[in-house]
Amino acid sequence: MQIPKWPVYGERELELLREVLESGRWGGHNEILGRLEGSFASFQHCAHGLSLANGTVALELALEVAGVGPGDEVIVPAISFISTATAVSRIGATPVFVDIEPYSFNLDPERAAEAVSAKTKALIVVHFGGQVADMDRLGRLAADRGLILIEDAAQAHGSEWNGRRAGSLGVAGIFSFQNSKVMTCGEGGMLTTNDAELAARARAIADQGRRAGGGWFHHYSLGTNYRMTAFQAAVLLAQLERLPKQIRLRSRNAALLRAELASVEGLRFQEAPPQATAHSCYLLLGRIDAARFGATRDQFHQTLAAQGVPCTPFYPHTLYANPLYRQGGCRVEPCPVSEACIADAFWLPHRVLMGDEETTREIAAVIRGAAGRGMR
Ligand SMILES: Cc1ncc(COP(=O)(O)O)c(C=O)c1O
Repeated sequence: MQIPKWPVYGERELELLREVLESGRWGGHNEILGRLEGSFASFQHCAHGLSLANGTVALELALEVAGVGPGDEVIVPAISFISTATAVSRIGATPVFVDIEPYSFNLDPERAAEAVSAKTKALIVVHFGGQVADMDRLGRLAADRGLILIEDAAQAHGSEWNGRRAGSLGVAGIFSFQNSKVMTCGEGGMLTTNDAELAARARAIADQGRRAGGGWFHHYSLGTNYRMTAFQAAVLLAQLERLPKQIRLRSRNAALLRAELASVEGLRFQEAPPQATAHSCYLLLGRIDAARFGATRDQFHQTLAAQGVPCTPFYPHTLYANPLYRQGGCRVEPCPVSEACIADAFWLPHRVLMGDEETTREIAAVIRGAAGRGMR
């Protein structure tokens, strides 16, 4: 089976890397950073982009410049990568873990509304696997209750809600360019926003409290160094040029795979409402109903692994069940859906969706063949 490798690169990355090498300006003040920020921000329908060392510090910075701090509570989904919660903890606020919806895998707006307390200051919405969360309802909740809405769009490059791209739908958004992401330079991040003042505050913190046009040794506010290097930006500019075509390919293959598997009992993929007008297809998420599928999620995973189809049996814990948060420092709402997903959900990484039609049909055959395996 010809499942492509990831990451993908070519002459364009080499050309831009050479440009940086030969410029002698390898750090975060090369003009290529501005080129990347402008191109990526406008791709995501945002007025401002700030390139950063990774998505985790981007999230910490977004919370900080939005005014979240010690004593505040921040609602986060119980299912995500750890940074969604640790960014909250590291700025001295308290994460409040809230359940996800059963088939969008995203924060449940009703459960989020119930979790709001007098201390709640913000809401971090994660677009899991690349599917934008229900921004109509979550946006309304934030507006009604006066909460700051931050998008963790680490997995949602190019994803949309009603034609508007991720990262442009809240006060600020963050993206990751870590090795597995749909555009990557190994490690990297971006903060996006339509708020010029917030962008300027974030830039000052990320660049040692400097001001545009000020000198290298002139510092006006308390900052640090979160800058992305020019090498990272070079690779990302090339990756961004390739991204729209890759999203079209993955979307076509995801639709084909879903159609091929539509009649398989007990297998249900992530469900997108009509407002989710584009999906990065970072992950193809699904759940196994073992009684109807005839095999458990772990048996399903073993069958795929044995036949060379990469598959991850979901996160091993809800965020609050990590040893870190078992010690406290958080508030936990009832999360029955999240806990069920730990046992029965899975994802296929995006490279599974980057082959040709024949490969996609072969993958569908392997998945169909996994049904009933537990009964044999
Ligand atoms: C949902 C989510 N949030 C945040 C991050 C953190 O990004 P990074 O690994 O670039 O720090 C990731 C990526 O790993 C992620 O998947």
